[in-house]
Amino acid sequence: MARVIDGKVLASGVRAEVKAGAVALRAASGVIPGLAVVRVGEDPASKIYVGGKRKAAAEAGFNAWEHHFPATANQAEVLDRITQLNAAPEVHGILVQLPLPPQLDGDALIRAVRPEKDVDGFHPLNAGNLLLGRPTARACTPAGVMVVLEHTGVKVAGAHAVVVGRSNIVGKPMALMLLHADATVTVCHRKSDLAAEIPRADILVAAVGVPGLVKGEWIKPGAVVIDVGMNRLPDGTLRGDVEYEAAAQRASWITPVPGGVGPMTIALLLRNTLDAARRAARA
Ligand code: GUN
Repeated sequence: MARVIDGKVLASGVRAEVKAGAVALRAASGVIPGLAVVRVGEDPASKIYVGGKRKAAAEAGFNAWEHHFPATANQAEVLDRITQLNAAPEVHGILVQLPLPPQLDGDALIRAVRPEKDVDGFHPLNAGNLLLGRPTARACTPAGVMVVLEHTGVKVAGAHAVVVGRSNIVGKPMALMLLHADATVTVCHRKSDLAAEIPRADILVAAVGVPGLVKGEWIKPGAVVIDVGMNRLPDGTLRGDVEYEAAAQRASWITPVPGGVGPMTIALLLRNTLDAARRAARA
């Protein structure tokens, strides 16, 4: 039976470190970390996520602002706001909440954020630095998964890691972070033979957004199972990408949904924002 990873407890540890760092930064330089979140439209999940990010930022002693636009907003008005935030000295981190309404060019908006303020790690410059293994703001969810893996004490170097999903937000940066940690990495997607690939995983990261896609019987006994999926079922409950009960019978460690990876994403966003504020204070 797997040990369950409590993401809330782990995240609160990271958040406490960040809060202490913010207090120290303020004492040393007067700088208060500032996070601006741009949200467009009324996606209900985004509204909840952004609320959580703002609350966590406030609890860490940061300034936090939400810039909310109606679903009908056009590219120029959102771009203008990003330009203003780029120039605002009290703003150290800018996050454009995804998904965006279809009339907006999300890539162009992400490219418009100053790379120094891109606390999501989505800007091509930061994504490229991650690819090259250079220090950079790293995407929050996969960075949070690396903290989870560290907590388990399981050796990543030499392990076979299977990442299911190849999104720019999770799958691709996750694969790169595992590779830089010396895992042997397989990236799976919709054309992959999951029943053949997943049983080879010492570390499995599922990030596809299909409830129960990963069958418990595919899990290698003793594997670490990290479930990034957050799927809302018709009855309103949240379900991961992994068949949790069956997978927990075989895994050594497993993350629940909710309460696993989710809280880590916010904690790492705060850490990225603190890092950006520290860089600004030094500049
Ligand atoms: N939507 C879902 N996850 C994320 C994230 O990590 N950052 C942003 N900006 N939007 C998201």
